[in-house]
Amino acid sequence: MSYYKIENLEQYFKHYNKSVREPRKFWSKIASENFTWYQESEKIVEFDMAEAKIKWFVDAKVNIVKNCLDRHLSKRGEKTAIIFEPNNPNDSAEHITYNDLYSRVSKMANVLREQGIKKGDRVCIYLPMIPEIAVSVLACARIGAIHSVVFAGFSASAVATRINDSECKMVITSDGGFRGEKTIDLKGIIDEALLNCPSVENVLVVKRTNSSIKMKEGRDQWLQPLTEAASDNCIAEIMDSEDPLFILYTSGSTGKPKGMVHTTAGYMVYTAYSFKNVFNYEENDVFWCTADIGWITGHSYILYGPLLNGATTVMFEGVPTYPDFSRFWEIIEKHKVTQFYTAPTAIRSLAKENLSYVQKYPLKSLKVIGSVGEPINEEAWHWYNDHVGGKRCPLVDTWWQTETGGILISALAFITPTKPTYASLPLPGIQVVLMDEKRNEIEDNQVTGSLCIKFPWPGIARTIWGDHQRYKDTYFSAFPGKYFTGDGALRDEVGYYRITGRVDDVIIVSGHNLGTAPIEDAINEHPAVAESAVVGFPHDVKGNALYGFVILKESGEYRDRANLTKEINQHISDHIGPIAKLDKIQFVSGLPKTRSGKIMRRILRKIAEGDFSNFGDTSTLLNPEIVDEIKEGRL
Ligand code: PRX
Repeated sequence: MSYYKIENLEQYFKHYNKSVREPRKFWSKIASENFTWYQESEKIVEFDMAEAKIKWFVDAKVNIVKNCLDRHLSKRGEKTAIIFEPNNPNDSAEHITYNDLYSRVSKMANVLREQGIKKGDRVCIYLPMIPEIAVSVLACARIGAIHSVVFAGFSASAVATRINDSECKMVITSDGGFRGEKTIDLKGIIDEALLNCPSVENVLVVKRTNSSIKMKEGRDQWLQPLTEAASDNCIAEIMDSEDPLFILYTSGSTGKPKGMVHTTAGYMVYTAYSFKNVFNYEENDVFWCTADIGWITGHSYILYGPLLNGATTVMFEGVPTYPDFSRFWEIIEKHKVTQFYTAPTAIRSLAKENLSYVQKYPLKSLKVIGSVGEPINEEAWHWYNDHVGGKRCPLVDTWWQTETGGILISALAFITPTKPTYASLPLPGIQVVLMDEKRNEIEDNQVTGSLCIKFPWPGIARTIWGDHQRYKDTYFSAFPGKYFTGDGALRDEVGYYRITGRVDDVIIVSGHNLGTAPIEDAINEHPAVAESAVVGFPHDVKGNALYGFVILKESGEYRDRANLTKEINQHISDHIGPIAKLDKIQFVSGLPKTRSGKIMRRILRKIAEGDFSNFGDTSTLLNPEIVDEIKEGRL
């Protein structure tokens, strides 16, 4: 029996049980039968959860790019690996075959070697969503350099912090990037960042926008002439299973960003396996994940997961709102996308607009739709399911984290029955437990607890770059022997999980635990509301009270605010109970969001508390200007 692809629900349970009873056998078989190794592992896994030390496929030797590209060439050389859809819909899309991608990656890898990059060196990639970002990532992996992709929306100081933390030797960037109507001066940002980055020796610059930029003598070089001159024959580096593959920064609840380190073999096996099963990937599918490669979702499900399976993956340079609100739907139609994977924040923003934008396109090619990054509220779930999925495509709500490498809890398309707002069941290999406040494992169903994983899985990040102690403290100390996700979850009567949000978002009002997500769900169901965020603030009698920040749809703008406040509270009362009513409702035009679309609740909490003294680092906000507006309108 092969364990790589789950065919039905009964088999899911069989595989799940096998993965718990005999994890070594389970993963060893998957690894051995589906990948190309220089040397296979005998021990499979070694770990010490108390010390946060985990190794998978111990002593195996492998190269992930050989698995993404070389081994497909005989069968799929002329198959499209990447469809590049540019920002401007009038520019033609580019179809890059596996043969082309292999050749481009090999040339780039040779350029990196010629520039002195060796196995273990860190290379910072600061590029827009153009083919060169994929090529650069894979070129690093081919020669064993550790890529550190920094989302090309981070400011100069944020890039500098990340470059310095991992002492990158090289930066790969471009003369600029297109995003909707804007042209972004990426090289200018890098120039500013590099004023404070002594480790960087070379900068390679991709030509994209033809903007006029400054090139620093002795440091900066245009990339294209170098790749044109390079050979397309590049011997891949033989990597140990536990050699670092990449670093990706994620923000901590406090302090500087954490450079999560993912290693080679475990990440490879887990992203490939989870991609195949969650999305029910089949040979001729066209997969589109709308994330940016600057985030883990892009690493795992635009690049590695799809390419490891020999899939066709779409890369989109632009934004969902340019030239209009139908851009996503137009691309699905144009490239006959079969699996579409996006974030609730994108769905909510598009659902605000006229339905005709989505109804213009039949979207008949779609088989599966997916959601990631935050809890998907009931209203957005239904809109996505009805208007994009046509009520016939399974909607997989995938829960995972930068730290987990791949999806841990999700329905498997066409296998697990879906339930709105529930991520549903863990994938095989993922031993989920809920913990109570006394640090005991909760056995019952229909309860909420802290979400932990009690056995390592191949895709887990192994450490924080340069700070193993912080890794241990953050993830393995709250519940000894277990990985603590920082999220809370509810387990229903059949064992489905619903992520209730970060544990730190729980607000206790008059002794009742209230999750912000269900309250926001209730508010968002009011027809005049586009989006909302709820935080707690101190209250003399109740301990905490609730403060809601509410964005109205355009249709709601013209209504009487006092009445709207009453109606929204009535909605909450109807959905959850009077206990969850908001003491204050402030109407705002936007919410402070990180560039990955997450609401920065820390800032909202401070405003609600009336503490304007220290908002901490706001450099990662997409819309820092909104903070002043919200402050001024505070009730
Ligand atoms: O709180 C969970 C939320 O996003 C966090 C991880 O964020 P990040 O590392 O940026 O990775 C995002 C993409 C994988 C989690 O701790 N989250 C992610 N997916 C979901 C989710 N919350 C609810 N439902 C999800 N499907």
